[in-house]
Amino acid sequence: MSGEAILIQGARIIDPSRGLDRPGDLLVCDSLIASAGEPVDPASLPGGSRVVRAGRRWVACPGFIDLHCHLREPGHEHKETIATGTLAAARGGFTAVCCMPNTEPAIDSESMVEYVLRQARATGCVRVFPIGCITQGRQGKVLAGLRELAEAGAIAFSDDGNPVGDPHIMRMALQYTVGLGLPIINHCEDHSLSAGGVMNEGWVATRLGLRGYPAAAEEVMIARDIALAEMTGGRLHLAHISTAGAVDLVRQAKARGLAVTAEATPHHLTMNDAWVLGRRDGGAPSPQPLVLSAYDTRTKVNPPLRSPADAEALAAALVDGTIDIIATDHAPHAITDKLVTYEEAAFGISVLETALGSLMGLVHGGLVDLPTLVHRLTVGPSQVLGGRFDDLATLRPGTPADVVLFDPDEEWTVDVGQFASKGKNTPLDGCTLKGRVKLTMVQGRVVFDGMGGAI
Ligand code: DOR
Repeated sequence: MSGEAILIQGARIIDPSRGLDRPGDLLVCDSLIASAGEPVDPASLPGGSRVVRAGRRWVACPGFIDLHCHLREPGHEHKETIATGTLAAARGGFTAVCCMPNTEPAIDSESMVEYVLRQARATGCVRVFPIGCITQGRQGKVLAGLRELAEAGAIAFSDDGNPVGDPHIMRMALQYTVGLGLPIINHCEDHSLSAGGVMNEGWVATRLGLRGYPAAAEEVMIARDIALAEMTGGRLHLAHISTAGAVDLVRQAKARGLAVTAEATPHHLTMNDAWVLGRRDGGAPSPQPLVLSAYDTRTKVNPPLRSPADAEALAAALVDGTIDIIATDHAPHAITDKLVTYEEAAFGISVLETALGSLMGLVHGGLVDLPTLVHRLTVGPSQVLGGRFDDLATLRPGTPADVVLFDPDEEWTVDVGQFASKGKNTPLDGCTLKGRVKLTMVQGRVVFDGMGGAI
């Protein structure tokens, strides 16, 4: 052992890549994992090494990998930059983020992929992997140069924010992925069904007098895409699925052995459409008068927050593996995008910094166990990309030390004023969450230190 080392002492070491869940120490040396789980004598470390004493129940695991976020650069730097978005990621325990191409201009050419990679190297504090467009300018009309994008470094393709409406274009895109081995990530929304909808179609929308966006708008396109994936043998990954019907479709596709994977977001797993009423409870219909916090535009997201039954179905699917991964869909917006009527507000929630805290609600509520949650944030995303991140989604000795340390029990109150993200748009502002990131490392370098004086 030569260079500086970091020893995390006495944590619960969870490494789903190797089925490891045990108390122990984690040693990082020369930017690599040196050991995970074995006891390490601090006296054996070189001078200048750091010893981090973990709380008894703290968890050390591979850094989280987010397959779906919006960093807004280039073109919307007033909402987020790669610098601020990756800082937010580090604060949330994410060591790698894949950014969607709905920038201005869109990431639909080699030079745009290179631009993002260059900016990320210059200003990012976690790993950034760009996702290229499926169609030129995300217009859904002409396929982008998928091979060129892949060769420049795109790790997947998506027109996120826009669906690929034309089934023939979708067929061709999926056909291409057979040779490239990279997934098509579709934002499934049939615009003729969702048109003008600003929240989930259901009793809450009726109560608020807002136009609903039905579950079927998502499900008909998922069904179409699954049929096209079956026909072409292409790799289909379904972005932010939000309904029980979508879960059923994915379950059936997997049962038929198709290469279809799916993600769910922290907000669709833990919130429901009653949040638009300003309620934070189970969301059962009630004749209560409206409260001032109704029509909170920070709850406006696409796909919309669905019914409590949908959220329950998503959590069950996360556990049984029908939903492969959790992805944040971190969608930062400017204050002015949200300080308008519900109809006019932009869709999107700022998620990176609250993801773990809200997801831990599922663990504390007994719905998901911790190793499964960590799997869906680490190994799962790597598997969706055909094992591309296997060296990052593990604590195997000799691999890069991308690590997060968190306290599953620490309660904290969300204060968007403290966010690194420029996006302050979360309905969780002021809410108390249980579960907090303490330390994030990328390649052995501490990129977030939430330990206060404890190091
Ligand atoms: O709510 C959303 N916001 N959903 C999307 O699909 C796009 C995203 C954005 O870019 O703001």
